[in-house]
Amino acid sequence: MSLSIIGRSIAESVTLKLNETAAILRAKGEPVIHLGIGEPKTKAPLDAILAAASLLNSGEIRYTPADGIPALKQAIVRYTGDQYKRIVSPMNVIASGGAKQAIMVALQAILNPQDEVVFPAPYWVSYPEMVKLCGAVPVPVLPEDGSFYPTMEDIARVCSSYTKAIIINSPNNPTGAMYSADFIAEIVEFCEKRSIYLIMDDIYHRLIFDNRKPISCYDFLKTSVDESKLIIINGVSKQYAMTGFRIGWAVANRKLIEVMTNIQSHQTSGPSVVLQAAAVGAINGIQSCVDSLCATLENNTKVMMDQLHSFEGVRATKPDGTFYCFVDFSHYNKDSSKLAFFLLDKVRVITVPGKEFGLDGYLRLSTCGSLKEITQGIERIKWALDPNSPNELYIGERKLVRDWL
Ligand SMILES: Cc1ncc(COP(=O)(O)O)c(C=O)c1O
Repeated sequence: MSLSIIGRSIAESVTLKLNETAAILRAKGEPVIHLGIGEPKTKAPLDAILAAASLLNSGEIRYTPADGIPALKQAIVRYTGDQYKRIVSPMNVIASGGAKQAIMVALQAILNPQDEVVFPAPYWVSYPEMVKLCGAVPVPVLPEDGSFYPTMEDIARVCSSYTKAIIINSPNNPTGAMYSADFIAEIVEFCEKRSIYLIMDDIYHRLIFDNRKPISCYDFLKTSVDESKLIIINGVSKQYAMTGFRIGWAVANRKLIEVMTNIQSHQTSGPSVVLQAAAVGAINGIQSCVDSLCATLENNTKVMMDQLHSFEGVRATKPDGTFYCFVDFSHYNKDSSKLAFFLLDKVRVITVPGKEFGLDGYLRLSTCGSLKEITQGIERIKWALDPNSPNELYIGERKLVRDWL
């Protein structure tokens, strides 16, 4: 079979593959605990459902403008005013099929083959593949001090005349680390000085703990939005638990938005009008759902961290937000893929190998499930790995006997 060079270079999405595996095992009646999941389990906001249902009832379900319906663009303008304290124009906004498409279209609009895109590691699994889809070169950079918090020096070290863009994701998937306002200020200034595009992937920006406040990168921008190369990415997936609705957006200078719109118009056209209506409902609706999701995640994270801290040999850094804990299991196995497979095979717990995020020896554990799933999931992992655990473990009626330590 003859396939393109780009087609052959793209890896499958491991997180989506894991969801598939969990569904297959569950359908067979296996007692799977999915700690790999990347979506909240709460229901979509009622305002979103009612808005979509009312449009569906009208029976008038048509194409939309390629950059989104005016009501959604207006809602995003308002959101940007509320959350980022910056008044932008609808011409600075494009609505896409998820934040994923917004990032992809932005990259397609700015990258030429061989351009480099720098991003801190560990990173969201899709960044390297999206950059490669544009024929460009991903340049991940691990913080030199071994922490999850990159410094400006870390980033500057790998930037060259080939660097076209930097992607910053804070709070971060997979580490949950929220970068400091000082770091964001430095990176905005650096990109402005060097005329580098800065893509701020803010998809988790309201899911933060300990009374932290979201940081607006616009606070540090010296120029107007239309003169700048700053691209803000956000969406409804995580904050409103609306992953299946597939609505995300980008806010950037209007010339770039125009080019992104042209690309999107030939790719998918505008997102489904029903789902855009739902997004308008969520953004303009009652916002207490975001606070209550945040409180649930904060509590789940605390429970997971407490349990992990009683686990010898495991190093767990407290996340500042998101619904992930990125945990160092290298004491047990330096190969995170082998370890994740072992845990699935022996105790039916799904985790995501750190290797996929550019840092081996770690596993990403999700706090999206119920407290019962979290506690039982960690208990099972502990039983499987800790040589001091009893020889047997009951999962429901099923007795597991350890035959590997
Ligand atoms: C860091 C990051 N950016 C973007 C996305 C994509 O979000 P969406 O569901 O809106 O496409 C995800 C989803 O997992 C993510 O973790």
